[in-house]
Amino acid sequence: MTDMLVKLYELPSYLEEKKNLEKQGFMIKRPIAPEASFVSQWAKKHFSELWGNEVNVAFSKQPVSCFVALKENEIAGFACYDTTTRGFFGPTGVLEKYRGHGLGKVLLLMALEALWNMGYAYAIIGGAGPTGFYEKTVGAISIPGSNPGIYKNLIKKI
Ligand SMILES: CC(C)(COP(=O)(O)OP(=O)(O)OC[C@H]1O[C@@H](n2cnc3c(N)ncnc32)[C@H](O)[C@@H]1OP(=O)(O)O)[C@@H](O)C(=O)NCCC(=O)NCCS
Repeated sequence: MTDMLVKLYELPSYLEEKKNLEKQGFMIKRPIAPEASFVSQWAKKHFSELWGNEVNVAFSKQPVSCFVALKENEIAGFACYDTTTRGFFGPTGVLEKYRGHGLGKVLLLMALEALWNMGYAYAIIGGAGPTGFYEKTVGAISIPGSNPGIYKNLIKKI
């Protein structure tokens, strides 16, 4: 999986889409410390232990470097930034039943905006799975020779 580069100084607005999601009963917010274990366990259960570990890093910071989408107080999706390494976006995921509503895009744009506000001009999408999603939503481009990149020789079991 390749890494991708995104310009942070030309991000599209997400406010209209966020408002529409709120009308459909979704809430997108930056979680706070008391919610830490719920978010990391959710990421581990629905995606992987690796992603749960990255969520732990997000909660080691203040402000917490991730956003979550909720539906009736349950997690529908999440997106982290500045966790795998500095300036990286990810991991991110939306529950299958909620995909295609725009949640992934709004979570992505909120996280990228946060990186911009930290002073980065570009962000890296780490190990992008669905490259088409990032090309379409934020004009990301693949970085040649970046597979496996930072993920080389990952520990995956005890
Ligand atoms: C990738 C993911 C987060 C997208 O979430 P989502 O909520 O379904 O995405 P959205 O509804 O916001 O999609 C926004 C746009 O991207 C498009 N899109 C979504 N997934 C896409 C894909 N895999 N390839 C190409 N385009 C895609 C949508 O069609 C939509 O286009 P539109 O605005 O013209 O309607 C979700 O599919 C997911 O959780 N996948 C599994 C985990 C994963 O791969 N995470 C990424 C790791 S880097």
